[in-house]
Amino acid sequence: GKGTRLRPLTYSTPKHLIPVANREILSYVLLQIADAGIRDVGIIISPDSGDRIRESLGRGEAWGLNLDYIVQEVPGGLAHAVKMSRAFLGDSDFLMFLGDNLIEGGVTPLLEGFAAVRPQGLVLLRAVADPRRFGVAELDVDGRVMRLVEKPKQPKSNLALVGAYVFTRDIHEAIDQIGPSWRGELEITDAIQKLLDMGKTVISHELKGWWLDTGTRDDILEANRVLLETSGQRREGMGIAGIAKCDVGVSDDVSRVGCEIIEPVSIARGCTLQDCCIGPHVSLGPGVMVTDAS
Ligand code: G1P
Repeated sequence: GKGTRLRPLTYSTPKHLIPVANREILSYVLLQIADAGIRDVGIIISPDSGDRIRESLGRGEAWGLNLDYIVQEVPGGLAHAVKMSRAFLGDSDFLMFLGDNLIEGGVTPLLEGFAAVRPQGLVLLRAVADPRRFGVAELDVDGRVMRLVEKPKQPKSNLALVGAYVFTRDIHEAIDQIGPSWRGELEITDAIQKLLDMGKTVISHELKGWWLDTGTRDDILEANRVLLETSGQRREGMGIAGIAKCDVGVSDDVSRVGCEIIEPVSIARGCTLQDCCIGPHVSLGPGVMVTDAS
């Protein structure tokens, strides 16, 4: 898409490269993918911001991944993005992970659940306060997925589709059979509904931990808070994949005069802090100066 909900930040930075706790959102996603044992990753980029993303991520060595880039010429929707990736994917099963979604525990549980049941699709669901912002799932009494609707005005449940899915190659056939939605996009939600209509099996996992869909400014602030907060728990078996690499703390070269810091914070190199109080849950990028402030 065009990142319209995050303007003005997205005028100068592609949404997925906006830093949270001093790391790009996308880098957490890649860490979770690497933690799940996946090595080959295709990143869908747009003609507008693709070069910035390529420059930032390179070939993926930093995460131990092989990154390929696939250009989606128009913002045609998530199912359209899968269509553009057909040659890259071949007939493989694959994980589709939206680069602006962060989930507690990473994606390993999804891949394990998929491998155990071998359905044609697996969706991740989470109970949310306002399901109208998302794709929404209706389950039957046994927890089977019955129906999926993208951004319903009157949601039939509070279970939102989280941006991590696992598919077999059957999804390509389903995508070929859907048309654009009211927002003019080929929706992955509609394609999964089509899989159900075709008599295929789609299973769901319910996420009980946190889910950060960094779609709005408030979401980004919440992601910053959660990532800083949970970084301290990483060694206690919480399974918060990737968070171990979050840059929490204060860089060695930060100059501090009369400054109180309340952890957790992420203060990058070269900051100058004078007569101020910072934190908790504050991130400062490189070279920031703060004086007489709280
Ligand atoms: C997309 C999907 C939606 C899902 C959401 C999760 O929405 O279409 O079903 O719930 O991601 O982040 P979009 O961000 O395109 O509005």
